[in-house]
Formats: sequence, structure tokens, C-alpha cells
Amino acid sequence: MRAIILTGGLGTRLRPLTADLPKPVLPVINRPFLEHQLLDLRRQGVREVLLATGFKPRAFARAFGDGKRLGIRLTFAHETRPLGTGGAVRHAAGFCRGTTLVLNGDVLQRLDLAAFLKRHAAARAEATIALTRVADPTQFGLVETDRAGLVKRFLEKPSPEEITCDTINAGAYLFEPSAVASIPPGVLYSLERGLFPELLKHGRRLAAWVSNGYWLDIGTLDKYLQAHLDGLGGAWPLPLVGLRRRGPFLLDSGAQLGPRVWHEGAGRVLLGRGSAVGPGARFTGSVCLGAGVRVEAGASLADCIVLDGARIGSDARLERCVVGRRCRVGAGCIVGPGRALGDGSVLTAFSR
Ligand code: GTP
Repeated sequence: MRAIILTGGLGTRLRPLTADLPKPVLPVINRPFLEHQLLDLRRQGVREVLLATGFKPRAFARAFGDGKRLGIRLTFAHETRPLGTGGAVRHAAGFCRGTTLVLNGDVLQRLDLAAFLKRHAAARAEATIALTRVADPTQFGLVETDRAGLVKRFLEKPSPEEITCDTINAGAYLFEPSAVASIPPGVLYSLERGLFPELLKHGRRLAAWVSNGYWLDIGTLDKYLQAHLDGLGGAWPLPLVGLRRRGPFLLDSGAQLGPRVWHEGAGRVLLGRGSAVGPGARFTGSVCLGAGVRVEAGASLADCIVLDGARIGSDARLERCVVGRRCRVGAGCIVGPGRALGDGSVLTAFSR
């Protein structure tokens, strides 16, 4: 089975973290985000993956090479100008032999591929959209289906009285080559606003399948943090190979935990390769420290992410925030909820 992953977006909502790294390569629990997706695809029998790249394509080659390390044959189709989600698939049409899986490159999900394929075949559909249920449907574009499970209509951010369902596009699709061939070549074109409404308009078979697995679009800072809290909290299965466990602490190779380090609340703390936590540091909930991070004495960190090479000064306080790679957070600084420091930021001592 072959899969295309859409990875060409600018990731503007995740700035400043995406200023230097494209969203699919940003670390999630200390691995490039896409690695979680690729490993899951391989587990489910996908061996050939094409990455449809646009923004900062070299970062993908650096992170994954030809995919051998992950047991996948990885190829790239680069767009010199953005073609949109549909245009990107059309650009890679030569790769689509038979039924092809297409995934957004910014969704963390546990997709049951066998069930998805079964539904697609049973519906004799040209395209099938995976859906996921959400608690607050007003925030999303909804996909309404009929009793036979075919797509009936799309509702963009409906008002409460317009809501007839709670299923949204999960960012995973199965396509027959005939559906891909319906996308106009070489132009900016969207799957969601272009191809799918077009297929519906012409009475072509567009099916839906509801996925019940974990689902999270990591496209905003809030959700990016949530992916870490969920992973460390146990909501999705973390790859824990090679980690030492000490109570709620998970230590990668060479990581050091100083004396009198405290943890309170639910969740776990991951110390990346070669990271070090000084005496008397306090952790609350789930915290992810990247490779080579230093947390100095008495610092306190609650539900936050510190990326590779950053240093957190003594008695600094971090809560529900993201500290970029190689940042310097001075002694006694306070970084509060919702904040994100771009790579290399320097906060002098006692900044708030
Ligand atoms: P924002 O700028 O924050 O909205 O993020 P984004 O640019 O990633 O856009 P969005 O979240 O809507 O994109 C959904 C998925 O499609 C992501 O995995 C993007 O990488 C991908 N994507 C969006 N536009 C393009 C494009 O023009 N070409 C390719 N190849 N992928 C795209």
C-alpha cells in the first residue's frame, strides 16, 4: 500500500516554532512529528510513502533520508510554489497506483487502516474521507453523511442551530486514481473546498468512515502542547524504547536527575538524551525536555515543553509554555501559559 503525506504548508499558526522547522518535522515527544505517523503506517503494512513538500524541503531529507531507518521507502515530490492540498496530490498523481492513502502531515491519529480500506471497498467509492467526532462542532467544518455512509454535505463552522452532526474531516483519505485525475493539474487547488464538493456535485461516490482512534490536529500552540501532555499522560502510545524509568521520570541515554527533584500531579516527565536536571527542581504534570536541555537548581516546570539545547536558569518558573531550541531562560524568569519562545531566544534573569 502507498501513502502520500501532505507536508508543504507554512504552519503559520505554530510560529515562532515553525520559523526554522516545518511543522511535520517539529519534535513531538523528542521525535520529528512525522516519525510517529510513519512508524504507525509501517506497523499497518504501508511500505512506500511520498512526502509532498513545499516549505523547507531539506528539513525532511535531513530528518528521514530515504526512510530506511524507519523501514519505509520514502520519496519526495517538491512544489516550487504551493499547490494546496488537492494540487499537491495531483502533482504526485504518478505515485497513485491503485487505492492510495493521503494524510495531512499535521494530524496525530491512530487510524485503523484495515477498517478504513474495508469501508472504502464496500462503498465502491472513488474517494473516502476519514471522520472523527468532536465535542464542540461549532469550531470545525462538519461532514454530514447519509444512512449509507456516503457524504451528503459539508458545513463550514456552523452556528449552533445548523448543527446536525459531530463528525469532522480527520485529514485522512483514500483515493482511486480516477478521483486524483479529476483534480486540475498545476494549479492551486484544495481537496476540501475543491475536489470533494466537485465530486458531490457530479453525483460521484464520496464515502465517509468514522475513526474512533485518538485524533489531534497539532496545528496550534495549544494543540502542540496537548499532543505532549496526551502522550506523556498515556492517551496515545509512546515509543518508550531505550528509556530508563524512575517513578514518573523517563530518562533517555545520558540523562541525569539531580537530588531532591520533585514531581506532583498526574503525567510523566521525559528527560531527553544528555539532559540534566539540577537539585531541588520541581515538576508538575507532564513535561518534555529535549536532548541536551539543562534545568538548573530550584526551577519549577509545569505542563510544558523545552526543546533541544535550551537552558532553564535556577528558580525560573515555566507553566504551559514552549521553550524553543537553544533558548536561554535566565534565573528567576517566569514564563506563563500560552507563551512560546522562538529558537535561540534569550530571557535575562527575572524577566516575566
Ligand atoms: P497554517 O499556516 O498554520 O494554517 O498551517 P498549514 O500551512 O500547515 O495549513 P493546514 O494546516 O491547513 O494544512 C493541512 C496539511 O496540508 C498540512 O499537513 C500542510 O503541510 C499541508 N499543506 C497545506 N498546504 C499545502 C500545499 O500547498 N502543498 C502541500 N504539499 N501540502 C500542503
